[in-house]
Amino acid sequence: MSGIYFHIPFCKQLCHYCAFHKSISLQAKERMLSCLKTELGLRKDYLKGKNIDSIYFGGGTPSVYSPEEIQFLISEVEQHFTINEKAEITLEANPDDLTDIYLTELKKTSINRLSVGIQSFHDEDLILMNRRHSGQQAYDAIKRAQSYGFDNISVDQIYGVPGLTVDKWKENLKKVFELNIQHISSYHLMYDPNTVFSHKLKKGIIKEVDEDISLTQYKLLISEAKKHGFTHYEISSFSKSGLESRHNSSYWQQKMYLGLGPSAHSYDINKREWNISDNLKYMKAIEEGGEYSEYEELSFTDRFNDYVLTSLRTMWGLNLDIVKNEFGDLYYKYCKEKADKFIQSKDVRIENGHVILTDKGVFISNDVMSDFFFLEE
Ligand SMILES: C[S@@+](CC[C@H](N)C(=O)[O-])C[C@H]1O[C@@H](n2cnc3c(N)ncnc32)[C@H](O)[C@@H]1O
Ligand code: SF4
Repeated sequence: MSGIYFHIPFCKQLCHYCAFHKSISLQAKERMLSCLKTELGLRKDYLKGKNIDSIYFGGGTPSVYSPEEIQFLISEVEQHFTINEKAEITLEANPDDLTDIYLTELKKTSINRLSVGIQSFHDEDLILMNRRHSGQQAYDAIKRAQSYGFDNISVDQIYGVPGLTVDKWKENLKKVFELNIQHISSYHLMYDPNTVFSHKLKKGIIKEVDEDISLTQYKLLISEAKKHGFTHYEISSFSKSGLESRHNSSYWQQKMYLGLGPSAHSYDINKREWNISDNLKYMKAIEEGGEYSEYEELSFTDRFNDYVLTSLRTMWGLNLDIVKNEFGDLYYKYCKEKADKFIQSKDVRIENGHVILTDKGVFISNDVMSDFFFLEE
């Protein structure tokens, strides 16, 4: 099984923390749609006849396209691939786009999952982030989507944001759990270079949140999520039983995926590919038959390190049998040694042959994962 990702590289406004590839000029929307269709045809053999288990429209802001335009792309996928009957088909949507008219039309499409960027319910945070909606609008958008029958909804939240106190974060959590949604992605704010936030940080206009505060926020998130019946299945992801994001899980479980559109990444076990992060160059190359992507062949060690990085992030952990069978005794012994070290410090445990981060280990997951990396001499 495998997945298809469409990167929709447009936003109506730039959020001050975000470094994802996008343009605020929407002029090329129609041209881009036709290029996405063309790229899909060009790469129809990439997944080697595998059935499609998930389709994900991410961005940028996929909800800049009308439901009819989104369905047009889904129909194009149907032309070239076999989509499983129960495939997860997700649209990332900004709250301000989820109007009654939009939702009425969206319900007629094959989209069966929504991922909505809430970020915070506090207006002062949203203003600092340069979001286009208020906290109340975001809350109402989720309620509205539910009233149209969308019953698999994920929300994105960010913590560790300047000005977001522990009490304010508690209020965000209270509201998010009131909404009776199925999935939460909660990210610690990252200061990506070339964002307004990192510029403001450098100038001293904003200050990084104290580590103790963001750790308290993360711990609260984990305990509240558990209390409300969510499974913490990946460092930043929580879901109701059986509703883990299949799209993200395909990244973490090393399944093949095809990424279409500017900046989209693809993976076929042996190599990683990425499309150029430039809308005009991408469209020109697609239209004229030019180069629009680069790739990297993965060495044996790259594949091992990818497996470490992706598996340790999840509650299923790193399967020692997979390491033994696919990577051999050397890597197996290496993993056992590393696991023993982190069992001593109570950062991992072994369960049915799987190395899994403990609650303590999750807080230092980056350190644990990088220590597991195999470095070639
Ligand atoms: C690619 S964005 C697309 C979502 C959609 N356009 C929206 O804003 O609602 C996916 C999510 O990544 C998260 N994100 C983006 N930049 C981030 C950053 N610098 N730090 C933490 N989270 C970030 C936000 O929560 C955002 O909703
Ligand atoms: S967070 Fe979403 S809306 Fe904001 S700039 Fe990034 S992709 Fe666009």
